[in-house]
Amino acid sequence: MVERRIAVVEPKEPEFRRFKVSAPGKLMLFGEHAVVYGRPCLITAVDQRMEVSVQPKPNDLIEIGAPGVGITGFKMELDRLNESVETPAGARFLIASLRNFSKKFGLSSGLKIETKSEFSSEFGFGSSSAVTVGILKALAEFSEIKLDDRQLFDLSYQTVRDVQGVGSGFDLAAAIFGGTIYFVTGGKEINSLDIGELPLVVGYSGIKADTSILVRQVADFRQQNFAEAEAVFDQMTFLTQEARRFLEKRDWEKAGQLMDTNQNLLELLGVSTRKLSVLIESARKAGAYGAKLSGAGGGDCMITLVSEEKRGEVEKAIGDAGGKVLKVKTNARGVKIE
Ligand code: MEV
Repeated sequence: MVERRIAVVEPKEPEFRRFKVSAPGKLMLFGEHAVVYGRPCLITAVDQRMEVSVQPKPNDLIEIGAPGVGITGFKMELDRLNESVETPAGARFLIASLRNFSKKFGLSSGLKIETKSEFSSEFGFGSSSAVTVGILKALAEFSEIKLDDRQLFDLSYQTVRDVQGVGSGFDLAAAIFGGTIYFVTGGKEINSLDIGELPLVVGYSGIKADTSILVRQVADFRQQNFAEAEAVFDQMTFLTQEARRFLEKRDWEKAGQLMDTNQNLLELLGVSTRKLSVLIESARKAGAYGAKLSGAGGGDCMITLVSEEKRGEVEKAIGDAGGKVLKVKTNARGVKIE
């Protein structure tokens, strides 16, 4: 008898195109906290990137894989986006982005979303803002919706405000526009500076800071000491404008000196820590032009401007003082389709 073999073909899910986008992390150079109160700041995008990919699915499920923040295999139905479902902390910005995008433009199919980061969310490089910008840009691409940079900023800013209630939006501007930017609260001004790479050394304090707590702490300080807090913010405004001038002239020495002044003002606000002060002092002693904390304070990173001759000594001093030198390049490119 002749045996008949029947090949069993497993039904295959149709393969849909994947839309991949990457957005850079950021560092605050001058003006943190003041920028929450209508003042300017200076920021630079760094060459550590967050990658976000979006792939349509032939069902109505949103699947999220974000291993960097401990999320694997998270699933939810598309039509539950508008309900206040319990979401894991690491997926809050992704889900809020999907919700806002879908409210504005609609979303008609399920999606598989994956994120991959070149930097740890511990460093304070702005992983939430990079992920928000990345997913919104990828969704616009796949839905064939033209969003210019300003519209992308506004939608991202609304999303971040929905999730954390506070924030100036400076990190979103860095993720979208890249480069080095003069920025005023909520994107009232977003001016790119033509300065190339900065001679910066970045030291991580080993402590992850919680930006919302620090922003609230400064808000309390301002409520109790209004005139003093406003005077500090006014001085920060003045030095940020001065720093912009020096950076544009590539006068790193003068800009470095202003970092020291900015650090003193941040200490008055009470957001520096002993560890940050030790790292900052070690950089100054090793011959840096100047140094300060970068971001909300309470931990995360310190930054310092250095001459090329002193770079090695400054890096060693930061390491010896218990910091971790992070190798990053500044002035990196903004969001882009991969
Ligand atoms: C945090 O990195 C910088 C702050 O100015 C907050 C903000 O601008 O959103 C403290």
